[in-house]
Amino acid sequence: MYRVDLPLTGTFAAWRDAARGLIGAGVRPEEVAWQRGEGGADLFGAAPPPMAEAPGLTVPKSFLQAAQLVAWHRDPERFARLYAMLHALQTDRRLMEDRGDPRVVRLHAMAKEVGRDKHKMTAFVRFRELEPLSDRRRFAAWFEPSHYIAEPTAPFFAKRFGDMDWSIFTPDLSVHFDGALRFEPGAPRPDLPEDAAEDLWRTYFRSIFNPARLKPAAMQSEMPRKYWKNLPEAGLIPELIATAQTRAQEMAEAAPTLAPARARPVLERVHAAQAEKLEGRDQFAAALEGCRRCGLWENATRPVPGEGPLDARLMVVGEQPGDAEDLSGRPFVGPAGQLFDRVLAEAGIDRATLYVTNAVKHFKFRARGKRRLHESPSRGEIRHCRWWLDVERERVKPRLILAMGGTAVESLTGTREGLLKRRGGIEAAEDGTPLMVTVHPSYILRLPDRVRQQEETARFREDLQRAAQAAA
Ligand code: URA
Repeated sequence: MYRVDLPLTGTFAAWRDAARGLIGAGVRPEEVAWQRGEGGADLFGAAPPPMAEAPGLTVPKSFLQAAQLVAWHRDPERFARLYAMLHALQTDRRLMEDRGDPRVVRLHAMAKEVGRDKHKMTAFVRFRELEPLSDRRRFAAWFEPSHYIAEPTAPFFAKRFGDMDWSIFTPDLSVHFDGALRFEPGAPRPDLPEDAAEDLWRTYFRSIFNPARLKPAAMQSEMPRKYWKNLPEAGLIPELIATAQTRAQEMAEAAPTLAPARARPVLERVHAAQAEKLEGRDQFAAALEGCRRCGLWENATRPVPGEGPLDARLMVVGEQPGDAEDLSGRPFVGPAGQLFDRVLAEAGIDRATLYVTNAVKHFKFRARGKRRLHESPSRGEIRHCRWWLDVERERVKPRLILAMGGTAVESLTGTREGLLKRRGGIEAAEDGTPLMVTVHPSYILRLPDRVRQQEETARFREDLQRAAQAAA
């Protein structure tokens, strides 16, 4: 009997190299015992195996893809299963195509379980903020995956949270990131502080929970119970489920009866006014006040939430609040807002029917004397603030989003490239909501030439009209 020790990290690559050498040396599956990260515990004196080059060894792509996942499965026999399969593939090249073969079935099932677990990790890790050690913000999270997926899932977090330091502790492996990924052995659950983000998660979860659409089984399959204990928002679930039926009934009873057609414009105005009042200081605005996702809050007077009815069909997204918006707490009230209002009026669109917001919620500026000069938000700031925009989008569920200017377009579609060419066309935001691109009103204000300004204003008016029609 031979023994192969695989390292705690880099495990798949190590398995692959060892398996290649074993095939080269003609070692049969039943002659090898595999172990990972046990530091060479003696398996009754089992010796390291012979290894040899395996020139020309090829495997079907489907095996490689499955193996890259299966290697992280919790099944202690996973490496043996993979090697047995690799060995069998040397004489039966088409084995992977045999969907009735129990070994193939098991391999695919294990790959699926690992893939699903990785996905859950990307969705259910909840970071808590720690005291910073440098000028980078620092976060930590505890997560208990079903399989050994901390290593293969770490690059996702490195990409997503590249501008902060973080650690994810799991029972099997700890992952640390400070510009580069580093792994350490697993740790017991650390004592992490509660932080403001927990309240935000709860607010977000409450706001997207629709009692009339409650399907407990589907909900638990999306968010399995085993993850609940580490999710701040999960504490709300029992209460929300318990009260869902009563709340759905109250909603149904509170729904207006059908009004005669002639009352519709009046109702719409009343509704818009009510919604606007509700918007004043709702939960969203309160949660936004506590936002520390990036450094912009420090210099701004206040965050500026979106404004407008929560059932608006058209959502308009600008860049960030300017000086006047930062002081008043309302979007689009300064010079760009005045142009926006004038063109809306010319286009026959009532601003009170729109949900108007910004891609970034705090004013970014550079002080020059007493003046505060606008500065464009960075890519990271746009990405951090996208979280809030997503919450707004989820609450309003507009039929169409009108993205005004590069920042809004980048936030919603991932790229601002070719903005002027994309203008006026309908495309899809990253979540699939139809989206129209247009210029930002301050682009028009900055044009030095009066004639160009008039031309651009006319085109902007047409874009607004087209967006309003498409959302109607
Ligand atoms: N510019 C924007 O993008 N948004 C505002 O709210 C004001 C100016």
